[in-house]
Amino acid sequence: MQSDTPLGGPVAVALTGASGAQYGLRLIECLVAAGQPLYVMISKAAHRVIAIETELDLPAQPERLAAALSERFGAEAGQIRCFGREDWLAPVASGSGDWRALVVCPCSTGTLSAIACGASDNLIERAADVALKERRPLIVVPREMPLSQIHLENMLTLTRMGAVVMPASPGFYHRPQSVADMVDFVVARMLAQLGIPQRLMPSWGE
Ligand SMILES: Cc1cc2nc3c(=O)[nH]c(=O)nc-3n(C[C@H](O)[C@H](O)[C@H](O)COP(=O)(O)O)c2cc1C
Repeated sequence: MQSDTPLGGPVAVALTGASGAQYGLRLIECLVAAGQPLYVMISKAAHRVIAIETELDLPAQPERLAAALSERFGAEAGQIRCFGREDWLAPVASGSGDWRALVVCPCSTGTLSAIACGASDNLIERAADVALKERRPLIVVPREMPLSQIHLENMLTLTRMGAVVMPASPGFYHRPQSVADMVDFVVARMLAQLGIPQRLMPSWGE
């Protein structure tokens, strides 16, 4: 299906149960502000992490979740669509679906592993599997430390398949004054990967 959006279709964003929910939420906020249509998936563990790490109390039911995120981030009606764990008829479940990239942020080591072996046991894993087989951009943002051999090998596997692995590791050379500055450092790099202009961070050398 031909997309009528200027950037070539919705971007899919999946939040999984690694620490760092702020990264994924801020990414959604910036993509909404850029006028980007979004498909959002939030795993059960991610809901738990969001409740612990933020003041948000997001509903699990997809339509209610879309309404809550839209209100929070000032999205246009229909700009954000959410899908549940077994919404196999969602656009992201197929290569014929109209979407241009998937960002898994934060990405738990569990989901990292499932993506690396093609488990496709839930919609997030299936969307990643589709991205890989269709050669669409797949960006994963793992957060764990230290990293085991399993984690490192799974990241290498995904990198070799063309995915971009971006561990959530903010730099300090821009002298962050707040947690928000550190979050924006990571989000700016994700936006750059998606080809979306951003003003969160100056480009190197600017
Ligand atoms: C508060 C909290 C923080 C967590 N932090 C991490 C983390 O940083 N990295 C990670 O890989 N898993 C972390 N976990 C564990 C994952 O949530 C757990 O492995 C879960 O099964 C992942 O499921 P999902 O990939 O379907 O979201 C955390 C869990 C909780 C409740």
